[in-house]
Amino acid sequence: MKNKSLMVVLLALVVLLVGGGLYSQFGKTKEKASQKVARVGVLQYVTHESLDEIYKGIQDGLKESGYSGKDLKIDFLNAQADQSKVQSMSQTLVDHKNDVLIGIATPAAQGLANATSDIPVVMGAVSDPVGAKLVKDLKKPDKNVTGVSDHTPIAKQITLMKRLTPDVKRVGVLYSSNEDNSKSQVEEFKSLAQKEGYEVSLYAVPSSNEIATTMNVMLGKVDAVYIPLDNTIASAFSSVVSAAKEQKKPIYPSAAKMVEEGGLASVVINQHDLGVATGKMAAQILSGKKVSDLPVEIFDQGTPVVNDAVAKELGITLPDDLKDK
Ligand code: TRP
Repeated sequence: MKNKSLMVVLLALVVLLVGGGLYSQFGKTKEKASQKVARVGVLQYVTHESLDEIYKGIQDGLKESGYSGKDLKIDFLNAQADQSKVQSMSQTLVDHKNDVLIGIATPAAQGLANATSDIPVVMGAVSDPVGAKLVKDLKKPDKNVTGVSDHTPIAKQITLMKRLTPDVKRVGVLYSSNEDNSKSQVEEFKSLAQKEGYEVSLYAVPSSNEIATTMNVMLGKVDAVYIPLDNTIASAFSSVVSAAKEQKKPIYPSAAKMVEEGGLASVVINQHDLGVATGKMAAQILSGKKVSDLPVEIFDQGTPVVNDAVAKELGITLPDDLKDK
């Protein structure tokens, strides 16, 4: 009898121990699951090096804010400048139930904003958020959209153009007719350059296929070419360069990469910095901050860059302060 009750007590102990162990195991997996993986959907409009640099910056910005490795799942898509892909990929990123969406370049941010009015959308480098109808008030976003804006220092670009090529009188502007980011930059360039006495003519292309022929028409009529932060032109910049090179005319683009690839000079915004700021803003939203408490962050300060080799080819002697820039 005594032995039997001892057995019962022992059995009960075993049950308790095993059960308790199982229970605490259970508790652990539950704990892990509640530390949930942050899901970020990124749509890049097209491939060109400036946008690639922004994407790199976004990953760095998220990491600096504590989102990386297994705590983060980035759902990355690239629409390759195809408007129907912008639409379908935006929908895909919404369907994947991402916590935050990031659009790199204006058309991508517009696609995402059209696809959802609930999930927060962070603009990655949108030149004119108001003109692109992404936000009404830069200081007080009232919908699900905020982010980072790159406003080219156009006045400084014109000052640089005056210094480097004082003989230039007629400037042709090459841009894409279907990028809202280019429209406002082109208007701003036109009015500021005209005030400085330049004769400005505008050349819009429907796609990168028309760049070469448009350049050939334009180069017969202008002394220099100006290019805004335009994705279509940036992604096919080599055709701009080869046309201008033949005619020995300077190109003033708006991004460092385009200067590197054969433009003469510019005053440019650091692309990696834009990405880092975008990533950090997305991180703030992941950590619970509301879009309405996050004003659009504007980058409008630039640094001068000059392509020495192109200056040489065009017979331009660089002022001392612009050498090695
Ligand atoms: N600001 C552009 C837009 O609104 C995107 C962009 C960022 C860009 N960096 C660039 C375009 C460099 C051309 C070159 O869409």
